[in-house]
Amino acid sequence: MADTEDLDLVEQAALGSGATFWTTKAVGPVRSMVLTDGPHGVRKQIESSTEHLVTGHSAAATCFPPAVGLSQTWDPDLVERVGTALGRESRVLGVDVLLGPGINIKRDPRCGRNFEYFSEDPVLSGALGAAWVRGVQGVGVAASLKHFAANNAEFDRMRASSDVDERTLREIYLRAFEHVVRTARPWSVMCSYNRINGVYAAQNRWLLTDVLRGEWGFDGLVVSDWGAVADRVAAVAAGLDLEMPGTGGVSDRDVVEAVERGDLPRAAVAAAAGRVARLADRTRQSSGAPPSFDADAHHLLAREAAARAIVLLKNDGDLLPLRPSRIAVIGRFATQPRYQGGGSSHVNPTRLDTALDEIRRLAGDHEVTYADDARLAATADTAVVFLGLPAEAESEGFDRPHIGLPAEQIELLREAVSLQPRTVVVLSHGGVVRLDEVAALAPAVLDGALLGQAGGGAIADVLFGDVNPSGRLAETVPARLQDVPAYLNFPSERGHTIYGERIFVGYRWYDARDLAVTYPFGHGLSYTTFDYRGMEVAEHDDGLTVTVTVANTGDRRGREVVQIYAGMTASRVDRPTRWLVGFGSLTLEPGTTGVVEIPVSRTDLAHWADRWVVESGEYMLWAAASSRDLRLRTTVTLTGDDAPEPFTRESTLGEVLADPVATPILTAAMAELSGGGTEPAGMLDLIGALPLERLAGFSGGRFTRDDLEALLIRMNAHRDS
Ligand code: BGC
Repeated sequence: MADTEDLDLVEQAALGSGATFWTTKAVGPVRSMVLTDGPHGVRKQIESSTEHLVTGHSAAATCFPPAVGLSQTWDPDLVERVGTALGRESRVLGVDVLLGPGINIKRDPRCGRNFEYFSEDPVLSGALGAAWVRGVQGVGVAASLKHFAANNAEFDRMRASSDVDERTLREIYLRAFEHVVRTARPWSVMCSYNRINGVYAAQNRWLLTDVLRGEWGFDGLVVSDWGAVADRVAAVAAGLDLEMPGTGGVSDRDVVEAVERGDLPRAAVAAAAGRVARLADRTRQSSGAPPSFDADAHHLLAREAAARAIVLLKNDGDLLPLRPSRIAVIGRFATQPRYQGGGSSHVNPTRLDTALDEIRRLAGDHEVTYADDARLAATADTAVVFLGLPAEAESEGFDRPHIGLPAEQIELLREAVSLQPRTVVVLSHGGVVRLDEVAALAPAVLDGALLGQAGGGAIADVLFGDVNPSGRLAETVPARLQDVPAYLNFPSERGHTIYGERIFVGYRWYDARDLAVTYPFGHGLSYTTFDYRGMEVAEHDDGLTVTVTVANTGDRRGREVVQIYAGMTASRVDRPTRWLVGFGSLTLEPGTTGVVEIPVSRTDLAHWADRWVVESGEYMLWAAASSRDLRLRTTVTLTGDDAPEPFTRESTLGEVLADPVATPILTAAMAELSGGGTEPAGMLDLIGALPLERLAGFSGGRFTRDDLEALLIRMNAHRDS
């Protein structure tokens, strides 16, 4: 490894900030590196421009489906293959660090950048994020897991504080990061712009050093989001290694002066420099990059991923797949695809399929007509109407004020359906849109989210049944904006975002409140049908293995995504009704039966109570086709690691009464105290909030402090035995 110990302070400080917008400095034995967005394609700028949001000047690269689409595959193996292709393109284009994946939780459907994130669920986000990292790093390019952490809105993103309690942070917002760091070992993490409980992520020692490095064992480099560093000295002290972009040496001088004044330990600067050097060694850019990548093969992979991402939301009367017929294609997204989001992730694609061309190709001799309005529908046997959000409605940098589709699109659909009842809707959008009217009007709906450059071909593949859809929603489609968990707490007010819904994010919220939704998390149909036949659970040291037997009862080959949710009938803490703990998939020929094995880690059953705790008790496990389509259920009783805390003087009567062992000891003592005259249990119910130490006062001195100590010893002794 390039040795940075011999570098002087000025040189070490220089390594900790960029040379330009996209490069690090070459200092002594440490070479310069190139960092580039990410995540669904390589956006390598051709000119040394500082306008990082200008997209016209980047090299052509494959535009794979953005995270919103990729997540709907629920397919880590496919995501890993996409990651490998991204890594290869990075190497050809001279990129050492690809800035992705984005694994922030979709807390609210209005967040303008949700298209760059995977899901409202941390288990799904973590599994897909880890696969992406494995793919990219497998070919020697660093991933930079972002945006760490609790960056869930665009409004005021460079200042606002995400005010979140620790349990919610750990269980929802940090959980996917923890999973990816522990299992896929990314070489870099990008800290976010926002503050967390008042402290900027870039200056947050608890986040960057105590949790990320200390608890999770991260051994890579922490880079700032672009322009996220308000105080470089505080950031280095907190554990930031690299400030991007370069500051022309200004913040390097701040660091040197702070060390000289004794305000910053020299060791912190040396450690950061060492991590920059380590990353330069890990990314093997210099060791013979291939001269080109196979653009055709990558386009095909983009098409495969896009087709797998499409969700069949409804299909009344088996309208799909299209049978030979005269087809009217309506709506401008059929010729001008909406296939990626705006902002720093915007890729210059190697080519671009349009759905109209691809439908014509697959329709063969059948007539396909196209128009941008309604009236054409009447002349055909089937209408395919393209709806969605225009590019200007959503982007990095701002949030949406609402989740509606443009009113004129609903009108277009209404008119089409009135002329042609056999109407299929194809949706394009980065953030969730309200779909109640679409679902009421159209007999068949395909959700394409954003599908990347080969989306047009993928849509045609699914429309004609060349691909049997198997995508599943990675986010709930709520009935209306007013129902969403953060409705009253989004985005921020006077610099603070209150995460008041706590752990009840996404389906956890809709289920706990028993709210109707238009389409639930995990939903997606197929052109065939599946029957869930059996479910078994085996327990081992690290968790459970759930085995589900599934039969294809239809007449087509198809892939089924099996989801495992857990819940507890009785718990000491607030719990979601059920939460995702694992998923897997299997492909079956018609009439055949197969088995899918799904590992469930113990951590995914745990809750945070100053540490991860697996509660002892009865767990329900469901094998499900969506969060609301529960097919099979079984229960397991687990011995947890939740050794009860000893009772103290501050424990309440209520807490003691919740413990079956301590209750008789306490009630006996209380009966003695009251001369056996009253019904102690009833009385105790009434004053359950009373801390034990206050009993002395309430008893008029009859229950002494010594009595209390003796009672505590007896109760705790029985608990331990
Ligand atoms: C974005 C990051 C991106 C960086 C570099 C920032 O504005 O938040 O996601 O990687 O710019 O373009």
